[in-house]
Amino acid sequence: MSEEAREALARLVVDVPDFPEPGIVFKDITPLLADPSGFAAVVAALAAGGRDADGVVVVDKVVGMEARGFIFAAPVALALGVGFVPVRKAGKLPRATHGVSYALEYGEATLELHEDAIGAGDRVLVIDDVLATGGTVAATVQLIERCGGVATAAAMLLELSFLPGRATIGDLPLTALMVV
Ligand code: PRP
Repeated sequence: MSEEAREALARLVVDVPDFPEPGIVFKDITPLLADPSGFAAVVAALAAGGRDADGVVVVDKVVGMEARGFIFAAPVALALGVGFVPVRKAGKLPRATHGVSYALEYGEATLELHEDAIGAGDRVLVIDDVLATGGTVAATVQLIERCGGVATAAAMLLELSFLPGRATIGDLPLTALMVV
C-alpha cells in the first residue's frame, strides 16, 4: 500500500464512540470519501488485489456488495479496466438471479446476483468496506461459483479481527487495508 493511502486511512477514517450503540466504536469512512486524493489512493490500494506482482490485471470482474461495498468496488473496477458487478439484497435485481441465504446474529439475510453477470471461468475480485463475521463474503463467493466463476481474491478497507471473518472465508486470499 502507498504511503499516501496509509496516511489517508489514518487521517480520514474517523472513530465515532458509542455509535450505533454504547460501547461500539464506529469507523466513519465519509471523511475519506470526501477527500478525492485520499479516496483515490485507497481505491488504488484495493485494486492491487486484482493485479499480479508485475502489476498485470489478473481478474475479469469486480464484485461489490450492497451498499457500502458499491462505493469502493465500482471505482476499483474502473481502475482495473474490468466490469463491475453488484451483489444486492433480496428482491432488488430485475432479471433472473442466483440467491444465497446466510445466518446473521439474529435471523437470516439473502444476497442475489444476476445469473448472467459473471461468465464461466471468470476470475473475480471481491470488494467490500468491512469484513466482520465473513458471512457476506462467503455468500458472495458462493454466488460467483453458481455462475461458474471463481473468486480469486478479496480486498476490504477494514477487518474486524475479533470476529471470525478470516476463518469463515477459508483460503480465499484477503487483503485488509486496516485491521482492528
Ligand atoms: C456490512 C458491511 C459488509 C458486511 C460485513 O454491511 O458493509 O457488507 O456488513 O459483515 P459480515 O462480514 O458479518 O457479513 P451491511 O449488511 O450492514 O449493509 P450496508 O452496507 O448496506 O450498510
